[in-house]
Amino acid sequence: MNPSDERFLYDRDDIEAADAVTEAQRIVFGPILFQAAVCLRDFGVLARLKRSGAQGAALDEIVRDCGLSVYAAGVLLDAGLAARLLFEKDGRFFLGRVGRCLLGNAMTRVNMDYVRDVCYAGMAKLGQALREGKPAGLGVFGDWPTIYPALPSLPEPARTSWFAFDHHYSDDAFGLALAHVFRHRPGHIYDVGGNTGRWALRCAAHDRDVRVTVLDLPEQLALLEREIGKEGPDVAARIGAHSVDMLRDERLPGEADVWWMSQFLDCFSEAQITGILARVRRAMKPEARLFILEPLCDRQRFEAGALTLNAISLYFTCMANGNSRFLRFETLEKCLARSGFVTEEVVDGLGIGGHTLMIAAPGE
Ligand SMILES: C[S@@+](CC[C@H](N)C(=O)[O-])C[C@H]1O[C@@H](n2cnc3c(N)ncnc32)[C@H](O)[C@@H]1O
Repeated sequence: MNPSDERFLYDRDDIEAADAVTEAQRIVFGPILFQAAVCLRDFGVLARLKRSGAQGAALDEIVRDCGLSVYAAGVLLDAGLAARLLFEKDGRFFLGRVGRCLLGNAMTRVNMDYVRDVCYAGMAKLGQALREGKPAGLGVFGDWPTIYPALPSLPEPARTSWFAFDHHYSDDAFGLALAHVFRHRPGHIYDVGGNTGRWALRCAAHDRDVRVTVLDLPEQLALLEREIGKEGPDVAARIGAHSVDMLRDERLPGEADVWWMSQFLDCFSEAQITGILARVRRAMKPEARLFILEPLCDRQRFEAGALTLNAISLYFTCMANGNSRFLRFETLEKCLARSGFVTEEVVDGLGIGGHTLMIAAPGE
């Protein structure tokens, strides 16, 4: 079955009245429970409970092994119970399924670090960002128009958490997308918004003859060159960089057989996406193809995926640029059609991010 046939839809109000009150409090106290969960993870309490398995652990054992005061361990454990990370029986604490997920699930860990380090402080400015159409929360990192030129100079740990988050979602889908791209036997690929060159490196390793040019902002290309410099001469010689502002540069190079955009169009408003695609359409060879890899919020199989994307859209609003979001399928289709592309193929459900791959040809 095509994953799109079984995607998660918000098409029911299926919460019982009694649960609705609790769910509402979970949202109201979400920021507080979030910080408590971060502490339970980072102070080693969740790991301690995991080690104790079915034996569980008493308060004084947690105090001793995690180096916490009785007071600190007590309030954290009670918050962990409220957040349903843990459960308690006969005076002993046990790690629950949600706690296990916070501790060991890779997506959850990456999301949590990213919310803690990149989003948390700035998100209080969401209302202002929505009203002004500007990333009002980005001010916590300095005076930047958008987060993109700021990425290489974000303070730690925000920088590491941002890149880990970005790479976590795209890396997994890259392996699955390679076969679709190389079916078109490209000699030269443009990786638009190629960031630190991870896709370029995957392509160069996959095909010994392919050349990849990364098109990105000049600030990013400095990082890319450092990464490529770590590779052997065979790979490094086939990966190039082209400095570009895709919002402003009217004249784009036109050599590529494949134009690749992964998690790139979600950085722009609908009007900007249409403008970028129209410029690409004008620059590309008639036989070239455009590949767009995006996690789309309405093509997710699981509620966790839809929730993640809809929440991250507000990071774009408040922290990244003030005007972009994770797209819905029909929005992307409309932008493609308006800019003169014909969608040839759609592949859903690639990797843990549930990415959609859209392959489009320049129209007549
Ligand atoms: C979310 S990252 C995606 C990185 C990578 N393609 C991936 O799949 O992990 C977006 C990339 O787009 C680049 N970018 C943002 N605005 C841009 C612009 N106006 N022109 C060119 N690149 C831009 C950023 O520098 C960043 O490298």
